[in-house]
Amino acid sequence: MCGIVGYIGPKDAYPILIKGLQRLEYRGYDSAGVALIDSDLKLYKNYGKVADLEEYVKGKDLAGNIGIAHTRWATHGEPNQVNAHPHFSQDKRLALIHNGIIENYSSLREELIKRGHKFESETDTEVLVHLIEDVKKNENVDLVEAVRIALNMVIGAYAIALVSVDNPDLLIAARKGSPLVIGIGEGEFFLASDATPLVEYTKNVVYLDEEEIAIIPRNGNLEIKTIKNKKKTPYVETLELNLSALEKGGYDHFMLKEIYEQPTSIKDSMRGRLDIDKGTVKLGGIIDYEEKMAKAKRIIMVACGTSWHAALVGEYLFEDIARIPVEVEYGSEFRYRNPIINEDDIVIAISQSGETADTLAAIRMAKEKGATIIGVCNVVGSSIARETHAGVYTHAGPEIGVASTKAFTAQVTVLSLMALRIASLKGNIKKSRFRQLLIEMETIPEKVEETLKLADEILDFSKIFTYSRNFLYLGRGYNFPVALEGALKLKEISYIHAEGYPAAEMKHGPIALIDKEMPVVVIATKKGAYEKVLSNIEEIKARKGRIIAVVTKGDTEVKKLADFMVEIPETEEMFVPLLATIPLQFLAYHIAVRRDCEVDMPRNLAKSVTVE
Ligand code: G6P
Repeated sequence: MCGIVGYIGPKDAYPILIKGLQRLEYRGYDSAGVALIDSDLKLYKNYGKVADLEEYVKGKDLAGNIGIAHTRWATHGEPNQVNAHPHFSQDKRLALIHNGIIENYSSLREELIKRGHKFESETDTEVLVHLIEDVKKNENVDLVEAVRIALNMVIGAYAIALVSVDNPDLLIAARKGSPLVIGIGEGEFFLASDATPLVEYTKNVVYLDEEEIAIIPRNGNLEIKTIKNKKKTPYVETLELNLSALEKGGYDHFMLKEIYEQPTSIKDSMRGRLDIDKGTVKLGGIIDYEEKMAKAKRIIMVACGTSWHAALVGEYLFEDIARIPVEVEYGSEFRYRNPIINEDDIVIAISQSGETADTLAAIRMAKEKGATIIGVCNVVGSSIARETHAGVYTHAGPEIGVASTKAFTAQVTVLSLMALRIASLKGNIKKSRFRQLLIEMETIPEKVEETLKLADEILDFSKIFTYSRNFLYLGRGYNFPVALEGALKLKEISYIHAEGYPAAEMKHGPIALIDKEMPVVVIATKKGAYEKVLSNIEEIKARKGRIIAVVTKGDTEVKKLADFMVEIPETEEMFVPLLATIPLQFLAYHIAVRRDCEVDMPRNLAKSVTVE
């Protein structure tokens, strides 16, 4: 949520900052702004996307080789030009950008007003920059110390970057709760909310840790200290990001590209982990904890959004084959509920970004209570990945489209591997059956490839639903989370109201909604409760609902009833979500495109939700 970019060095800062903002636009896009220093401090900001900012600054003075830039996802104050970042201090000599929420901003604001400060915006960020200025003047300290003291006075979460016209050779950054990474170039430094804006300039990065302040000089070495004034040695890591992964590569949207990347991302998530010849699953990241996992009396999975749906698939997987009871929790509910957590509990946190505030808070709480925390994250070096005891990365590659696609199937892939590994450790699966499952799993990327060929068929019939106002998605067993995920995709990017339901629950409410206007997507693959789902389809038909069915190749029963049908390859029941999800991604995508929606940057959403 909100993207931060910074630069200090010999080059013109503006082009680097704008390019960085474009890379980070998935984090928020309701307004954007930039501050640059050469002889004076220039600040430009505008309502709308990064492109609107570019338009706005045309013809303006953009000189300067130090600067900060921001793309916003509004928390305090509506998205408009005044509330956009950067914000000035009272004397307009400091400019600050911020990602996060200062919870005690209103009492700080009142205090500062009493001391003569005047605020232009409604934001918590402006309060923070005034506070830094106030501390600097009243305590008569240097800028870094003023930042440190001010950060000790705020409650909440922040990633900030600050420049001062009185210190044009210094960029200051700090984090608590929201991520920041510093790129180290030849005589220059870059700063960003994640590594994507840095990769074209340098592979050497330092991830800032909680409550750390980075003092980034024009000439000299990066210094890091904590807000408690403890000096830290910067730990330089090497990025393994590929620039082409951050480009659309000829596709109209990142989402479409990411849907098509799924054979590769699933394969990458299995690579080196699944060994058919030896008949084993090896997950290096959890090797020291797998015995403990196998002995666990229960597993709690915490996540938000699409990752929560992957967790639901995980519940079916672990209960089905590893025979361990699983509870699936929304990070936001779990953390505030005083949950019962035992020391032998395993908590699996699932997160694409590894930065989701509620998931992060949930694992911190569970860790404090003695549970073992395992991460399933996509972004290497992210906060959740760093704060877990152990974990397994999904190797989906960077996911830019705000609506998650390949990250979901990669999460399900990793959870399948984990469940298989724990099942084999526990010895509650026959060797021959285990091997059979591994062999089938290895074919999934090919079967995904085959499923992708359904795109045109789906494009064709999706036209009919361009102006639908509601959708119902139904599935049972492993396909229930698929239904939830299908409905979420549609509402996220097309703004059509959609609900996912366990098929059998339809008769307890949603059936009242069914009439000839109501499209009902039913995932009715063979195995599982197929016959029961078939009865549900009959019930929909009897009420004239329009049925879009996802079925197993060769199905003849559903054909008699469905208005539209897509056939996915046959597979083991536990792997069906990896295939059945794909037609639903296409359906949402094509409808959204026809409705002229901004597929990659849907309104009001952000990819990385670092506020609660
Ligand atoms: C946001 C994104 C979703 C994502 C959710 C959880 O809402 O728009 O696509 O599923 O956050 O994010 P995470 O990074 O923890 O998987």
